[in-house]
Amino acid sequence: MESMLLQLIVTLFVFVSFLNKGNAGITSTFIRSEWPSIDIPIDNEEFAVPKGHNAPQQVHITQGDYDGKAVIISWITADAPEPSKVVYGTSEKTYEFTAEGRASNYTFHKYKSGYIHHCLVGGLQYNTKYYYKIGSGDSAREFWFKTPPKIDLDSPYKFGIIGDLGQTYNSLSTLQHYMQSGAEAVLFVGDLSYADRYRYNDVGLRWDTWGRFVERSAAYQPWIWSAGNHEIEYFPYMGEVTPFRSFLERYATPYLASKSSNPLWYAIRRASAHIIVLSSYSPFVKYTPQWEWLREELKRVDREKTPWLIVLMHIPLYNSNEAHYMEGESMRAVFESWFVHYKVDVVFAGHVHAYERSYRVSNIHYNITSGDRYPVPDKAAPVYITVGDGGNQEGLAGRFTDPQPDYSAFREASYGHSTFEIKNRTHAFYHWNRNDDGKKSPTDSFVLHNQYWGSSLRRRKLKKRHNLIRSTVDGISFD
Ligand SMILES: *[C@@H]1O[C@H](CO)[C@@H](O)[C@H](O)[C@H]1NC(C)=O
Ligand SMILES: *[C@@H]1O[C@H](CO)[C@@H](O)[C@H](O)[C@H]1NC(C)=O
Ligand SMILES: *[C@@H]1O[C@H](CO)[C@@H](O)[C@H](O)[C@H]1NC(C)=O
Ligand SMILES: [Fe+2]
Repeated sequence: MESMLLQLIVTLFVFVSFLNKGNAGITSTFIRSEWPSIDIPIDNEEFAVPKGHNAPQQVHITQGDYDGKAVIISWITADAPEPSKVVYGTSEKTYEFTAEGRASNYTFHKYKSGYIHHCLVGGLQYNTKYYYKIGSGDSAREFWFKTPPKIDLDSPYKFGIIGDLGQTYNSLSTLQHYMQSGAEAVLFVGDLSYADRYRYNDVGLRWDTWGRFVERSAAYQPWIWSAGNHEIEYFPYMGEVTPFRSFLERYATPYLASKSSNPLWYAIRRASAHIIVLSSYSPFVKYTPQWEWLREELKRVDREKTPWLIVLMHIPLYNSNEAHYMEGESMRAVFESWFVHYKVDVVFAGHVHAYERSYRVSNIHYNITSGDRYPVPDKAAPVYITVGDGGNQEGLAGRFTDPQPDYSAFREASYGHSTFEIKNRTHAFYHWNRNDDGKKSPTDSFVLHNQYWGSSLRRRKLKKRHNLIRSTVDGISFD
């Protein structure tokens, strides 16, 4: 009896130390080379104004409907309010179709914006390259984009994820690396231009430089926008107190298509993914419009059509950096149980200027009375990934809490971007790419198994092994 007990204790001890060892996440020791975190000067070539009178500038597109058969094309003409007309077609130089949108302008303190054009181009074919032309006469400019494959269980698609980009030399490096990735659309997790770091006229001028900066990518593929704190721009000292004003004037979202009442939160479906965009800086507690909308939108998710369920927000719910530590707790308390219930595959966030990835964990049993308060391994939970490392002028968040908490799988303070490449209904390849590497060394990567289509398969596998075994499927469970 005694020896059995002893054996049990020894076994338990071995098991526990095994667990601890297995749990340990990685805090990368990589020392990055870092350019100074300063904005590229306003008159730099990177922000060049296109030639010609009133030439369209700051051209960008985003998805224009729920399912990917429309785009919203946006641009600014600096000098005159010409028609918001787009001509487009499926072969170069022949523009069979015309669409017309609307223009607006706004003032910000004493800054006067140019004419901001938004034009919805709908009724497109899937999987097709479209060429489009905007502007008039000698100043007209031509671009192209590719529509996604149709909504389907096994439609492959490669997304990029960028956050907290700004307009420094590091931002440029991130953008250039991203553009070599072969990804087809950007999931942008908030904090675009960092124009709010300036005052008076310069706020608007830095929104303009940023628009010209990202055009090299955003005119050719949709950037799916979510708003961060740098979009709030609450500036009583210059009489500007309407939140998100510059952002909302300049960056359209297809929010009506997902029955949202506000451009700051909405959803789209693209290829085999259902993407939900949340606003960290809009009301989200119970009974608010965002809460009501998300409850309904989650019911509309059909994993038999779109296997991949992705959520974007600005503030991460799981992050162990000293910067912005636990700022996501309020939203976690409200939405985490839904994310687990609906088996969200992955939640992308920004805000913290460093890279971090969590294991699949949840803290939905938190109880203010009983004292239950620890995140626990949870196979139904999403992976939480922070990609706030686009390279803005605030620099990197280099201090992580020590020791690395159990929920944290990998963390490193370097600039970079991620890609999420869906292969089919069960498999997606995820990569985080730091800027400092040459073209081919993703720093953190793994195969993601779909939470809906992959899980029964995984359960079967686990049962077969019959034992309390750690699962390294996905490299993301730590049970
Ligand atoms: C906006 O455009 C209208 C029409 O051209 C013009 O009269 C007005 O002055 C402009 N407002 C600003 C703030 O630029
Ligand atoms: C929270 O804990 C209290 C005290 O242990 C318990 O009575 C209650 O049922 C718990 N609530 C939930 C929702 O689990
Ligand atoms: C899904 O993609 C993965 C990775 O490319 C592949 O191994 C697997 O066989 C594919 N599944 C099907 C059903 O094609
Ligand atoms: Fe932020």
